[in-house]
Amino acid sequence: MTAPAAATPQTAASRPLVIDALSAGYADTQVLWNVSMRIDPGEIVALIGSNGAGKSSLLGAVSGVVSTWSGSVRYGERSLTGVEPDRIVSAGVVQVPQGRRLFGSLTVEDNLRMGAYLRNDREVESDLKRMLDLLPRLRERYDYLAGRLSGGEQQQVAIARALMARPQMLLIDEMSLGLAPVLVDQLIELLAQIHQTGVSILIVEQDVQTALEVSSRAYVLETGRVTLSGPSAQLLDDPLVKKAYLGV
Ligand SMILES: Nc1ncnc2c1ncn2[C@@H]1O[C@H](COP(=O)(O)OP(=O)(O)OP(=O)(O)O)[C@@H](O)[C@H]1O
Ligand SMILES: [Mg+2]
Repeated sequence: MTAPAAATPQTAASRPLVIDALSAGYADTQVLWNVSMRIDPGEIVALIGSNGAGKSSLLGAVSGVVSTWSGSVRYGERSLTGVEPDRIVSAGVVQVPQGRRLFGSLTVEDNLRMGAYLRNDREVESDLKRMLDLLPRLRERYDYLAGRLSGGEQQQVAIARALMARPQMLLIDEMSLGLAPVLVDQLIELLAQIHQTGVSILIVEQDVQTALEVSSRAYVLETGRVTLSGPSAQLLDDPLVKKAYLGV
């Protein structure tokens, strides 16, 4: 495998992620009903919805950590339904989890290396270097324990760790939560750079304005069901979205 010329180490997506009539839940509690969504190669799609609507559960079902009751998730020709989380990562679909879930007592470097633990190619070192070129702040913090970083720095580590898996499709859960607007703007810029390299992105955000501004299409999830979807610009103008999610 030769190193891509891009500034970030992931490879361009060439397949759609298709979620079809997915129902899922925890033990005997159903939280997703008949959810269908599609993210085409190279798209940025937003998933919005209130607290507890099931957004993280949907990402969990795609990533293989929440069990699917019925319906399917496909990545191109490949079924991801019921597939082990590690194999989903190896297929190129990688999640940046809500709350970042870093290894707080490990260094930034070790967290980034953890992102590459399923890889057996020889480009991990050069990818690490590229990561630090992309995120100079992490170069300064390379030997720090991740748990001691600021929220914005931790989110950078979480995204960089996901990139170290060389994703074609990133699932990003609540990237902006708890961060100052200036930091959110920096992360949005980072997403744009990642997107330019051809990676598909599904962003889950409570900051609906931001989510709709950076995405081309969006889905609204309410109590586990998709109630609205369409071009993001259209949803930004939708009276129901404005009232329920934009407070205008
Ligand atoms: N591990 C779990 N076991 C049981 N129920 C869970 C679990 N995780 C989430 N739930 C329930 O599933 C429903 C959907 O939760 P989920 O976290 O997917 O929503 P969300 O849209 O991501 O919410 P938030 O905006 O708070 O992140 C909620 O009712 C929640 O209480
Ligand atoms: Mg969530």
